[in-house]
Amino acid sequence: MSTEHPTSQQAAGLRIGDLAPDFEARSTVGPVRLKDFRERWLILFSHPADFTPVCTTEFVELAREAQEFERRDCALMALSVDSLFSHFAWLRLIRDRFDVEVRFPIVEDPTLVIGRAFGMVAPQDSDSATVRSTFFIDPEGVVRAMTCYPANMGRSIPEMLRMLDALQAIDEQNGLAPANWTPGTPLLQPPSQTLDDVFAAQRETDWFLREAGNGDGA
Ligand code: BEZ
Repeated sequence: MSTEHPTSQQAAGLRIGDLAPDFEARSTVGPVRLKDFRERWLILFSHPADFTPVCTTEFVELAREAQEFERRDCALMALSVDSLFSHFAWLRLIRDRFDVEVRFPIVEDPTLVIGRAFGMVAPQDSDSATVRSTFFIDPEGVVRAMTCYPANMGRSIPEMLRMLDALQAIDEQNGLAPANWTPGTPLLQPPSQTLDDVFAAQRETDWFLREAGNGDGA
């Protein structure tokens, strides 16, 4: 495995808007390189360990919803410190017990070099387990959103899909997603940028709080 990653001090500061650090690694579908996922959305996520209860439920649900991510032109890639053969054995068990095949890549990161590059583990951490970090990476390779859940709480797959929908809608419509936004509901318009627009707005909130595609501010 090799990685063009920043120093661990920079890594801990990976922020929304940063280019995702590139890496090459072994995975359950063969060697993968992050850059090869450009031109599609990518959700890269870490899990603490194979053969653990919460992680197993996440992988079962993600595999069941894999087509929903595909429909949104979004690849999935998982990562943990466990070896490739541990990943294989776990996926075999998941298939046999839950009747679902995990076909997206699971990367092995035994030295935590990728986990550190993404800040999935603190630079000084000696514990090999990553937390449940999730990175939403756009087709240009830019980190657009991140979430971090503790080991004892599983991620919501509907929420991952909602975040992806929101990011894609924001890009397509040049709008802003309000609180509790769901697909099919309006985005907000970016606020006015000139005092003339502010003074010309019909109602006092229209210059900064108005639904997209709604010229009358209703
Ligand atoms: C789990 O996936 O269930 C888990 C993993 C690490 C620590 C605690 C729980």
